[in-house]
Amino acid sequence: MEHDDLDELMVCRLTDSHKSVEPCSVVIFGASGDLTARKLIPALYHLYKDKQMPADFRVVGFARREKTDDSFRAELRQALDQFSRTKPVDDAVWNEFAKRVVYCMAEFSDSAGYQKLEKILSSFGSEPLRNNLLFYLATSPSQFGEVAEKLHDAGLLHKDGEEQKGWQRIVVEKPFGHDLASAVQLNGELTRFAHEQQVFRIDHYLGKETVQNILMFRFSNSIFERLWNRDSVDHVQITVSESLGVGGRGGYYEEAGALRDMVQNHLLQVMSLVAMEPPVSLDAEPIRDEKVKLLKSIRQLTPEAVAKQVVRGQYFAGSIGGKPVPGYRQEPKVKPDSNTETFVALKLLVDNWRWAGIPFYLRTGKYLPLSASEVRIQFRPTPNVLFAALCGNKLDPNALTLRLQPNEGISLRFNGKVPGTSTSVRPVRMSFSYNSEFGAYTPEAYERLLLEAMAGDATLFIRRDEVEAAWGIVDSIRKGWEGKPLTNREFYAAGTWGPMAADDLLAQRGHVWRNPHPDV
Ligand code: BG6
Repeated sequence: MEHDDLDELMVCRLTDSHKSVEPCSVVIFGASGDLTARKLIPALYHLYKDKQMPADFRVVGFARREKTDDSFRAELRQALDQFSRTKPVDDAVWNEFAKRVVYCMAEFSDSAGYQKLEKILSSFGSEPLRNNLLFYLATSPSQFGEVAEKLHDAGLLHKDGEEQKGWQRIVVEKPFGHDLASAVQLNGELTRFAHEQQVFRIDHYLGKETVQNILMFRFSNSIFERLWNRDSVDHVQITVSESLGVGGRGGYYEEAGALRDMVQNHLLQVMSLVAMEPPVSLDAEPIRDEKVKLLKSIRQLTPEAVAKQVVRGQYFAGSIGGKPVPGYRQEPKVKPDSNTETFVALKLLVDNWRWAGIPFYLRTGKYLPLSASEVRIQFRPTPNVLFAALCGNKLDPNALTLRLQPNEGISLRFNGKVPGTSTSVRPVRMSFSYNSEFGAYTPEAYERLLLEAMAGDATLFIRRDEVEAAWGIVDSIRKGWEGKPLTNREFYAAGTWGPMAADDLLAQRGHVWRNPHPDV
Protein backbone atom coordinates (compact mmCIF):
# COMPACT_ATOMS: atom_id res chain seq x y z
CA MET A 1 0.00 0.00 0.00
CA GLU A 2 1.23 3.48 -0.82
CA HIS A 3 2.18 5.70 2.06
CA ASP A 4 -0.53 8.23 1.18
CA ASP A 5 -3.26 5.61 1.24
CA LEU A 6 -2.10 4.62 4.66
CA ASP A 7 -2.36 8.18 5.87
CA GLU A 8 -5.84 8.54 4.50
CA LEU A 9 -7.09 5.34 6.01
CA MET A 10 -5.55 5.76 9.34
CA VAL A 11 -5.82 9.34 10.42
CA CYS A 12 -8.66 9.21 12.87
CA ARG A 13 -9.24 12.52 14.56
CA LEU A 14 -10.29 12.00 18.11
CA THR A 15 -10.80 15.67 18.69
CA ASP A 16 -10.41 18.61 16.43
CA SER A 17 -6.81 19.76 16.50
CA HIS A 18 -8.01 23.35 16.69
CA LYS A 19 -9.85 23.54 19.97
CA SER A 20 -12.51 26.13 20.09
CA VAL A 21 -11.57 28.60 22.77
CA GLU A 22 -13.80 31.46 23.82
CA PRO A 23 -12.31 34.95 23.92
CA CYS A 24 -10.54 35.42 27.23
CA SER A 25 -7.85 37.29 29.14
CA VAL A 26 -4.78 35.56 30.46
CA VAL A 27 -3.47 37.22 33.62
CA ILE A 28 0.05 36.21 34.56
CA PHE A 29 1.07 36.77 38.18
CA GLY A 30 4.83 37.04 38.51
CA ALA A 31 5.05 38.33 34.97
CA SER A 32 8.52 39.80 35.35
CA GLY A 33 9.98 36.36 36.10
CA ASP A 34 11.87 33.88 34.05
CA LEU A 35 8.97 31.56 33.26
CA THR A 36 6.97 34.31 31.58
CA ALA A 37 9.84 35.37 29.34
CA ARG A 38 11.19 31.92 28.54
CA LYS A 39 8.06 29.83 28.26
CA LEU A 40 4.70 31.54 28.61
CA ILE A 41 5.07 34.40 26.16
CA PRO A 42 6.84 32.27 23.52
CA ALA A 43 4.03 29.71 23.87
CA LEU A 44 1.26 32.32 23.53
CA TYR A 45 3.06 33.94 20.59
CA HIS A 46 3.25 30.59 18.79
CA LEU A 47 -0.38 29.78 19.50
CA TYR A 48 -1.24 33.15 17.99
CA LYS A 49 1.05 32.59 15.04
CA ASP A 50 -0.55 29.17 14.44
CA LYS A 51 -4.01 30.74 14.68
CA GLN A 52 -4.91 28.73 17.74
CA MET A 53 -5.60 31.62 20.09
CA PRO A 54 -9.22 32.65 20.56
CA ALA A 55 -10.71 35.21 18.18
CA ASP A 56 -10.02 37.88 20.77
CA PHE A 57 -7.73 37.78 23.79
CA ARG A 58 -5.58 39.88 26.08
CA VAL A 59 -2.51 39.07 28.14
CA VAL A 60 -2.04 41.00 31.35
CA GLY A 61 1.28 40.83 33.17
CA PHE A 62 0.84 41.39 36.91
CA ALA A 63 4.05 42.03 38.86
CA ARG A 64 5.75 44.31 41.31
CA ARG A 65 8.53 45.78 39.20
CA GLU A 66 8.04 49.15 37.65
CA LYS A 67 7.33 48.91 33.94
CA THR A 68 5.08 50.48 31.37
CA ASP A 69 3.11 48.52 28.78
CA ASP A 70 5.74 49.46 26.24
CA SER A 71 8.77 48.58 28.31
CA PHE A 72 7.12 45.25 29.27
CA ARG A 73 6.48 44.46 25.60
CA ALA A 74 10.04 45.44 24.67
CA GLU A 75 11.48 43.11 27.32
CA LEU A 76 9.27 40.25 26.21
CA ARG A 77 10.27 40.80 22.62
CA GLN A 78 13.94 40.66 23.52
CA ALA A 79 13.41 37.41 25.41
CA LEU A 80 11.38 35.99 22.54
CA ASP A 81 14.26 36.59 20.15
CA GLN A 82 16.30 34.41 22.45
CA PHE A 83 13.83 31.70 23.46
CA SER A 84 11.44 31.36 20.54
CA ARG A 85 11.38 27.85 19.08
CA THR A 86 11.00 29.36 15.60
CA LYS A 87 13.46 31.98 14.47
CA PRO A 88 13.52 34.73 13.42
CA VAL A 89 10.50 36.08 15.24
CA ASP A 90 7.87 37.20 12.74
CA ASP A 91 7.66 40.99 13.22
CA ALA A 92 4.18 41.37 11.81
CA VAL A 93 2.79 38.59 14.01
CA TRP A 94 4.61 39.91 17.09
CA ASN A 95 3.36 43.47 16.56
CA GLU A 96 -0.23 42.29 16.35
CA PHE A 97 0.26 40.02 19.36
CA ALA A 98 2.01 42.70 21.43
CA LYS A 99 -0.94 45.10 21.02
CA ARG A 100 -2.90 42.70 23.21
CA VAL A 101 -0.31 42.62 25.99
CA VAL A 102 -0.54 45.03 28.92
CA TYR A 103 1.18 45.43 32.27
CA CYS A 104 -0.36 45.89 35.70
CA MET A 105 2.17 46.99 38.29
CA ALA A 106 1.13 45.88 41.75
CA GLU A 107 2.08 43.90 44.85
CA PHE A 108 0.38 40.52 45.26
CA SER A 109 -0.59 41.47 48.80
CA ASP A 110 -2.10 44.85 47.94
CA SER A 111 -5.86 44.88 47.41
CA ALA A 112 -5.57 48.11 45.43
CA GLY A 113 -3.59 46.18 42.79
CA TYR A 114 -6.55 43.93 42.18
CA GLN A 115 -8.84 46.93 41.79
CA LYS A 116 -6.40 48.21 39.23
CA LEU A 117 -6.50 44.85 37.47
CA GLU A 118 -10.28 44.97 37.52
CA LYS A 119 -10.20 48.37 35.81
CA ILE A 120 -7.78 47.14 33.17
CA LEU A 121 -10.00 44.14 32.43
CA SER A 122 -13.11 46.33 32.26
CA SER A 123 -11.33 48.65 29.82
CA PHE A 124 -11.11 45.78 27.31
CA GLY A 125 -14.69 46.58 26.49
CA SER A 126 -16.07 43.14 25.86
CA GLU A 127 -17.82 40.85 28.32
CA PRO A 128 -15.76 37.73 27.54
CA LEU A 129 -12.46 39.58 27.87
CA ARG A 130 -13.66 40.93 31.20
CA ASN A 131 -15.16 37.68 32.55
CA ASN A 132 -13.35 34.72 30.98
CA LEU A 133 -10.17 34.80 32.96
CA LEU A 134 -7.21 32.47 33.09
CA PHE A 135 -5.07 33.33 36.11
CA TYR A 136 -1.60 31.92 35.70
CA LEU A 137 0.20 31.91 39.04
CA ALA A 138 3.88 31.96 38.12
CA THR A 139 4.59 32.81 41.75
CA SER A 140 5.92 31.11 44.81
CA PRO A 141 3.37 28.60 46.16
CA SER A 142 3.26 30.56 49.41
CA GLN A 143 1.42 33.26 47.45
CA PHE A 144 -1.21 31.03 45.82
CA GLY A 145 -3.72 31.35 48.66
CA GLU A 146 -3.34 35.10 49.00
CA VAL A 147 -3.66 35.79 45.27
CA ALA A 148 -6.77 33.59 45.03
CA GLU A 149 -8.35 35.33 48.01
CA LYS A 150 -7.62 38.82 46.72
CA LEU A 151 -8.96 37.92 43.28
CA HIS A 152 -12.11 36.64 44.90
CA ASP A 153 -12.48 39.76 47.05
CA ALA A 154 -12.06 41.97 43.99
CA GLY A 155 -14.92 40.09 42.30
CA LEU A 156 -12.63 38.60 39.67
CA LEU A 157 -12.70 34.96 40.78
CA HIS A 158 -15.94 33.15 41.44
CA LYS A 159 -16.42 29.58 42.44
CA ASP A 160 -18.39 27.86 39.70
CA GLY A 161 -21.97 27.94 40.88
CA GLU A 162 -21.69 31.31 42.57
CA GLU A 163 -23.46 33.96 40.62
CA GLN A 164 -21.06 34.70 37.84
CA LYS A 165 -20.55 35.50 34.23
CA GLY A 166 -18.03 33.69 32.08
CA TRP A 167 -15.42 31.35 33.57
CA GLN A 168 -12.34 31.74 35.70
CA ARG A 169 -9.53 29.24 36.04
CA ILE A 170 -6.33 29.16 38.03
CA VAL A 171 -3.19 27.59 36.62
CA VAL A 172 -0.44 26.77 39.10
CA GLU A 173 3.13 25.70 38.62
CA LYS A 174 5.15 23.24 40.61
CA PRO A 175 6.47 22.88 43.24
CA PHE A 176 3.01 22.14 44.53
CA GLY A 177 3.99 21.93 48.18
CA HIS A 178 7.04 20.23 49.60
CA ASP A 179 5.29 17.27 51.23
CA LEU A 180 1.83 15.83 51.60
CA ALA A 181 0.82 18.12 54.45
CA SER A 182 1.82 21.29 52.59
CA ALA A 183 0.13 20.08 49.39
CA VAL A 184 -3.09 19.41 51.31
CA GLN A 185 -2.85 22.89 52.78
CA LEU A 186 -2.26 24.51 49.39
CA ASN A 187 -5.16 22.59 47.92
CA GLY A 188 -7.30 23.83 50.79
CA GLU A 189 -6.26 27.43 50.18
CA LEU A 190 -6.94 27.29 46.46
CA THR A 191 -10.26 25.53 46.76
CA ARG A 192 -11.60 28.05 49.27
CA PHE A 193 -12.12 30.38 46.35
CA ALA A 194 -12.31 28.06 43.37
CA HIS A 195 -13.68 24.60 42.73
CA GLU A 196 -11.27 21.79 42.01
CA GLN A 197 -12.50 21.89 38.39
CA GLN A 198 -11.21 25.46 38.13
CA VAL A 199 -7.70 24.55 39.31
CA PHE A 200 -5.21 23.47 36.64
CA ARG A 201 -1.97 22.09 38.13
CA ILE A 202 0.80 21.93 35.59
CA ASP A 203 3.26 19.12 35.08
CA HIS A 204 4.98 20.16 31.88
CA TYR A 205 5.78 16.52 31.05
CA LEU A 206 2.10 16.02 30.27
CA GLY A 207 2.39 18.70 27.60
CA LYS A 208 4.98 16.66 25.71
CA GLU A 209 3.68 14.92 22.60
CA THR A 210 5.53 11.73 23.42
CA VAL A 211 4.09 11.55 26.91
CA GLN A 212 0.58 12.06 25.52
CA ASN A 213 1.32 9.35 23.02
CA ILE A 214 1.79 6.76 25.78
CA LEU A 215 -1.98 6.38 26.14
CA MET A 216 -2.61 6.53 22.39
CA PHE A 217 0.04 3.92 21.79
CA ARG A 218 -1.23 1.59 24.48
CA PHE A 219 -4.92 1.81 23.77
CA SER A 220 -5.08 2.18 20.00
CA ASN A 221 -2.96 -0.90 19.27
CA SER A 222 -4.16 -4.35 20.13
CA ILE A 223 -0.84 -6.13 19.78
CA PHE A 224 0.95 -4.37 22.62
CA GLU A 225 -1.79 -3.99 25.17
CA ARG A 226 -2.30 -7.73 25.41
CA LEU A 227 1.37 -8.11 26.38
CA TRP A 228 1.21 -5.22 28.82
CA ASN A 229 1.04 -7.20 32.04
CA ARG A 230 2.92 -9.48 34.41
CA ASP A 231 2.57 -12.50 32.12
CA SER A 232 4.75 -10.97 29.42
CA VAL A 233 6.63 -8.08 31.01
CA ASP A 234 9.72 -8.81 33.04
CA HIS A 235 10.29 -5.30 34.34
CA VAL A 236 9.98 -1.65 33.32
CA GLN A 237 12.69 1.01 33.39
CA ILE A 238 11.90 4.72 33.33
CA THR A 239 14.93 6.97 32.93
CA VAL A 240 14.92 10.76 32.91
CA SER A 241 18.55 11.75 32.75
CA GLU A 242 19.97 15.25 32.42
CA SER A 243 23.45 16.27 31.35
CA LEU A 244 23.03 19.60 33.12
CA GLY A 245 23.88 20.29 36.72
CA VAL A 246 21.83 22.51 39.00
CA GLY A 247 23.53 25.63 37.62
CA GLY A 248 22.08 28.81 39.08
CA ARG A 249 19.20 27.01 40.80
CA GLY A 250 21.19 25.85 43.82
CA GLY A 251 18.98 27.74 46.28
CA TYR A 252 15.80 26.07 45.05
CA TYR A 253 17.43 22.70 44.55
CA GLU A 254 18.84 22.54 48.08
CA GLU A 255 15.24 22.50 49.32
CA ALA A 256 13.90 20.23 46.59
CA GLY A 257 16.43 17.56 45.60
CA ALA A 258 15.83 15.13 42.77
CA LEU A 259 13.06 13.27 44.60
CA ARG A 260 10.79 16.29 44.95
CA ASP A 261 11.97 18.04 41.80
CA MET A 262 11.51 15.13 39.38
CA VAL A 263 10.14 11.92 40.94
CA GLN A 264 7.12 13.41 42.71
CA ASN A 265 5.85 14.79 39.43
CA HIS A 266 7.40 13.88 36.08
CA LEU A 267 8.52 10.31 36.79
CA LEU A 268 5.41 9.25 38.68
CA GLN A 269 3.26 10.83 35.98
CA VAL A 270 5.03 8.88 33.26
CA MET A 271 4.79 5.71 35.32
CA SER A 272 1.07 6.16 35.91
CA LEU A 273 0.44 6.54 32.16
CA VAL A 274 2.54 3.47 31.42
CA ALA A 275 0.91 1.30 34.04
CA MET A 276 -2.70 2.52 34.45
CA GLU A 277 -5.76 0.53 33.41
CA PRO A 278 -7.74 1.63 30.35
CA PRO A 279 -10.04 4.52 31.26
CA VAL A 280 -13.75 4.25 30.52
CA SER A 281 -13.42 7.19 28.12
CA LEU A 282 -10.83 9.71 27.00
CA ASP A 283 -12.35 12.46 29.10
CA ALA A 284 -10.33 14.15 31.81
CA GLU A 285 -11.92 12.55 34.85
CA PRO A 286 -11.84 8.89 33.78
CA ILE A 287 -8.20 9.24 32.75
CA ARG A 288 -7.28 10.93 36.00
CA ASP A 289 -9.29 8.36 38.00
CA GLU A 290 -7.15 5.58 36.54
CA LYS A 291 -3.90 7.44 37.18
CA VAL A 292 -4.84 7.97 40.81
CA LYS A 293 -5.83 4.32 41.16
CA LEU A 294 -2.43 3.32 39.86
CA LEU A 295 -0.57 5.65 42.22
CA LYS A 296 -2.58 4.25 45.10
CA SER A 297 -1.69 0.69 44.10
CA ILE A 298 2.03 1.35 44.48
CA ARG A 299 3.21 -0.65 47.46
CA GLN A 300 3.87 1.52 50.51
CA LEU A 301 7.56 1.98 51.22
CA THR A 302 8.48 1.32 54.85
CA PRO A 303 11.84 2.71 56.06
CA GLU A 304 13.25 -0.84 55.68
CA ALA A 305 11.96 -1.02 52.10
CA VAL A 306 13.44 2.42 51.38
CA ALA A 307 16.85 1.14 52.47
CA LYS A 308 16.54 -1.74 50.01
CA GLN A 309 14.62 -0.16 47.16
CA VAL A 310 15.71 3.45 46.92
CA VAL A 311 19.17 4.71 46.02
CA ARG A 312 20.11 8.37 46.18
CA GLY A 313 23.24 10.04 44.98
CA GLN A 314 25.01 13.37 44.72
CA TYR A 315 27.49 14.34 42.02
CA PHE A 316 31.04 15.33 42.74
CA ALA A 317 33.32 17.09 40.26
CA GLY A 318 33.70 15.30 36.97
CA SER A 319 33.41 16.06 33.31
CA ILE A 320 30.59 16.40 30.82
CA GLY A 321 31.36 16.19 27.14
CA GLY A 322 35.07 16.45 27.94
CA LYS A 323 34.65 19.66 29.98
CA PRO A 324 35.36 19.69 33.72
CA VAL A 325 32.36 20.57 35.91
CA PRO A 326 32.19 21.28 39.65
CA GLY A 327 30.66 19.02 42.27
CA TYR A 328 27.20 19.77 43.67
CA ARG A 329 28.64 21.01 46.96
CA GLN A 330 30.68 23.58 45.06
CA GLU A 331 27.68 24.99 43.18
CA PRO A 332 26.49 28.52 44.08
CA LYS A 333 24.01 28.66 46.98
CA VAL A 334 24.67 25.04 47.96
CA LYS A 335 25.87 24.18 51.46
CA PRO A 336 29.41 22.75 51.44
CA ASP A 337 28.18 19.74 53.44
CA SER A 338 24.83 19.43 51.69
CA ASN A 339 23.03 16.09 51.79
CA THR A 340 20.64 16.96 48.99
CA GLU A 341 20.28 14.20 46.41
CA THR A 342 20.91 15.02 42.75
CA PHE A 343 20.17 11.44 41.69
CA VAL A 344 17.51 8.92 42.67
CA ALA A 345 16.92 5.38 41.50
CA LEU A 346 14.10 3.35 42.95
CA LYS A 347 12.18 0.16 42.57
CA LEU A 348 8.42 0.38 42.90
CA LEU A 349 6.01 -2.54 43.02
CA VAL A 350 2.42 -2.20 41.97
CA ASP A 351 0.01 -4.31 43.95
CA ASN A 352 -2.69 -4.90 41.40
CA TRP A 353 -3.79 -7.79 39.23
CA ARG A 354 -1.93 -6.60 36.14
CA TRP A 355 1.46 -5.83 37.66
CA ALA A 356 1.83 -7.95 40.81
CA GLY A 357 5.51 -8.78 41.30
CA ILE A 358 6.82 -6.75 38.34
CA PRO A 359 9.44 -4.17 39.29
CA PHE A 360 9.21 -0.64 37.95
CA TYR A 361 12.64 0.94 38.11
CA LEU A 362 12.70 4.73 38.00
CA ARG A 363 15.83 6.87 37.89
CA THR A 364 16.68 10.47 37.35
CA GLY A 365 19.74 12.60 37.95
CA LYS A 366 21.67 15.73 37.14
CA TYR A 367 25.04 15.65 35.39
CA LEU A 368 24.52 12.23 33.90
CA PRO A 369 26.24 11.52 30.57
CA LEU A 370 23.36 12.73 28.42
CA SER A 371 19.91 14.27 28.54
CA ALA A 372 17.34 11.70 27.59
CA SER A 373 13.99 10.45 28.83
CA GLU A 374 12.76 7.02 27.96
CA VAL A 375 10.58 4.15 29.07
CA ARG A 376 11.77 0.64 28.45
CA ILE A 377 9.36 -2.25 28.69
CA GLN A 378 11.50 -5.32 29.00
CA PHE A 379 9.68 -8.51 28.13
CA ARG A 380 10.31 -11.89 29.67
CA PRO A 381 13.16 -13.97 28.26
CA THR A 382 12.37 -16.97 26.10
CA PRO A 383 12.28 -20.38 27.79
CA ASN A 384 15.72 -21.82 28.20
CA VAL A 385 15.60 -24.06 25.13
CA LEU A 386 16.83 -23.74 21.55
CA PHE A 387 18.71 -20.47 21.14
CA ALA A 388 18.54 -19.47 24.76
CA ALA A 389 20.24 -22.72 25.68
CA LEU A 390 22.99 -21.93 23.13
CA CYS A 391 23.37 -18.23 23.74
CA GLY A 392 22.54 -18.01 27.46
CA ASN A 393 22.51 -14.45 28.76
CA LYS A 394 23.64 -13.15 25.41
CA LEU A 395 20.20 -13.68 23.95
CA ASP A 396 18.62 -10.32 24.53
CA PRO A 397 15.02 -10.37 25.74
CA ASN A 398 12.60 -8.34 23.63
CA ALA A 399 12.23 -4.74 24.67
CA LEU A 400 10.06 -1.88 23.63
CA THR A 401 11.51 1.57 24.18
CA LEU A 402 9.39 4.71 24.18
CA ARG A 403 11.85 7.53 23.57
CA LEU A 404 10.23 10.58 25.13
CA GLN A 405 13.09 12.96 24.28
CA PRO A 406 15.27 13.57 22.32
CA ASN A 407 15.09 11.46 19.11
CA GLU A 408 11.41 11.05 19.92
CA GLY A 409 10.17 7.70 18.79
CA ILE A 410 9.54 4.07 19.64
CA SER A 411 11.69 1.06 18.98
CA LEU A 412 11.17 -2.64 19.36
CA ARG A 413 14.14 -4.83 19.93
CA PHE A 414 14.05 -8.44 18.87
CA ASN A 415 16.50 -11.09 17.75
CA GLY A 416 17.28 -12.06 14.19
CA LYS A 417 19.54 -14.43 12.37
CA VAL A 418 22.83 -13.03 11.26
CA PRO A 419 23.11 -13.83 7.54
CA GLY A 420 25.58 -16.61 6.79
CA THR A 421 26.13 -20.25 7.47
CA SER A 422 26.52 -20.05 11.22
CA THR A 423 23.44 -20.00 13.45
CA SER A 424 24.19 -16.69 15.09
CA VAL A 425 21.42 -14.63 16.50
CA ARG A 426 21.72 -10.99 17.37
CA PRO A 427 19.41 -8.20 18.51
CA VAL A 428 18.04 -5.89 15.84
CA ARG A 429 15.67 -2.95 16.09
CA MET A 430 12.46 -1.83 14.45
CA SER A 431 12.16 1.90 14.84
CA PHE A 432 9.60 4.65 14.51
CA SER A 433 10.84 8.22 14.60
CA TYR A 434 8.53 11.21 15.02
CA ASN A 435 10.75 13.40 12.89
CA SER A 436 10.88 11.11 9.91
CA GLU A 437 7.20 10.23 10.12
CA PHE A 438 5.64 13.58 10.98
CA GLY A 439 8.40 16.12 10.24
CA ALA A 440 10.12 18.19 12.86
CA TYR A 441 6.94 19.69 14.35
CA THR A 442 7.66 19.88 18.03
CA PRO A 443 5.48 22.41 19.80
CA GLU A 444 6.60 23.36 23.26
CA ALA A 445 4.76 21.66 26.10
CA TYR A 446 3.51 25.03 27.32
CA GLU A 447 1.72 25.74 24.04
CA ARG A 448 -0.46 22.70 24.44
CA LEU A 449 -0.97 23.25 28.16
CA LEU A 450 -2.01 26.89 27.81
CA LEU A 451 -4.38 26.01 25.02
CA GLU A 452 -5.98 23.22 27.04
CA ALA A 453 -6.34 25.46 30.08
CA MET A 454 -8.04 28.18 27.97
CA ALA A 455 -10.30 25.53 26.48
CA GLY A 456 -11.10 24.17 29.96
CA ASP A 457 -9.88 20.63 29.30
CA ALA A 458 -8.18 19.31 32.43
CA THR A 459 -6.91 16.00 31.01
CA LEU A 460 -3.30 17.15 30.92
CA PHE A 461 -3.35 18.65 34.41
CA ILE A 462 -2.89 17.05 37.78
CA ARG A 463 -5.93 16.57 39.97
CA ARG A 464 -5.85 17.19 43.70
CA ASP A 465 -5.94 13.52 44.72
CA GLU A 466 -3.20 12.72 42.20
CA VAL A 467 -0.80 15.28 43.58
CA GLU A 468 -1.54 14.12 47.11
CA ALA A 469 -1.06 10.43 46.26
CA ALA A 470 2.33 11.24 44.69
CA TRP A 471 3.41 13.18 47.77
CA GLY A 472 2.44 10.21 49.94
CA ILE A 473 4.99 8.09 48.06
CA VAL A 474 7.68 10.74 48.23
CA ASP A 475 7.09 11.37 51.94
CA SER A 476 7.57 7.72 52.78
CA ILE A 477 10.93 7.79 51.00
CA ARG A 478 12.01 10.94 52.77
CA LYS A 479 11.05 9.35 56.07
CA GLY A 480 13.41 6.48 55.30
CA TRP A 481 16.24 8.98 54.69
CA GLU A 482 15.60 11.04 57.80
CA GLY A 483 18.71 11.57 59.91
CA LYS A 484 20.87 9.61 57.45
CA PRO A 485 23.58 11.65 55.79
CA LEU A 486 24.90 10.52 52.43
CA THR A 487 27.50 7.77 52.64
CA ASN A 488 30.51 7.37 50.37
CA ARG A 489 28.69 4.82 48.26
CA GLU A 490 26.12 7.46 47.37
CA PHE A 491 28.36 9.86 45.47
CA TYR A 492 28.95 9.73 41.73
CA ALA A 493 31.28 11.59 39.44
CA ALA A 494 29.51 14.11 37.20
CA GLY A 495 29.29 12.57 33.75
CA THR A 496 28.63 8.99 34.96
CA TRP A 497 25.36 7.08 35.30
CA GLY A 498 25.01 7.58 39.04
CA PRO A 499 26.34 5.73 42.07
CA MET A 500 27.22 2.03 41.93
CA ALA A 501 24.38 1.33 44.33
CA ALA A 502 21.96 2.06 41.47
CA ASP A 503 23.39 -0.91 39.56
CA ASP A 504 23.22 -3.08 42.67
CA LEU A 505 19.54 -2.22 43.00
CA LEU A 506 18.78 -3.93 39.71
CA ALA A 507 21.30 -6.68 40.22
CA GLN A 508 19.22 -7.94 43.19
CA ARG A 509 16.84 -9.39 40.58
CA GLY A 510 19.44 -10.06 37.87
CA HIS A 511 18.52 -6.89 35.95
CA VAL A 512 20.73 -4.20 34.46
CA TRP A 513 20.04 -0.61 33.53
CA ARG A 514 19.81 0.02 29.81
CA ASN A 515 21.20 3.47 29.29
CA PRO A 516 19.68 5.72 26.66
CA HIS A 517 21.80 5.88 23.55
CA PRO A 518 22.86 9.24 22.10
CA ASP A 519 22.33 8.39 18.44
CA VAL A 520 19.44 6.00 18.07
C1 BG6 B 1 11.75 20.68 35.84
C2 BG6 B 1 12.77 20.55 36.93
O1 BG6 B 1 10.46 20.42 36.34
O2 BG6 B 1 12.03 19.76 34.79
C3 BG6 B 1 14.16 20.75 36.37
O3 BG6 B 1 12.51 21.49 37.94
C4 BG6 B 1 14.41 19.85 35.19
O4 BG6 B 1 15.15 20.51 37.38
C5 BG6 B 1 13.28 19.96 34.18
O5 BG6 B 1 15.64 20.22 34.60
C6 BG6 B 1 13.42 18.92 33.08
O6 BG6 B 1 12.50 19.18 32.08
P1 BG6 B 1 12.78 18.77 30.56
O7 BG6 B 1 11.53 19.16 29.84
O8 BG6 B 1 13.98 19.53 30.14
O9 BG6 B 1 13.02 17.29 30.57
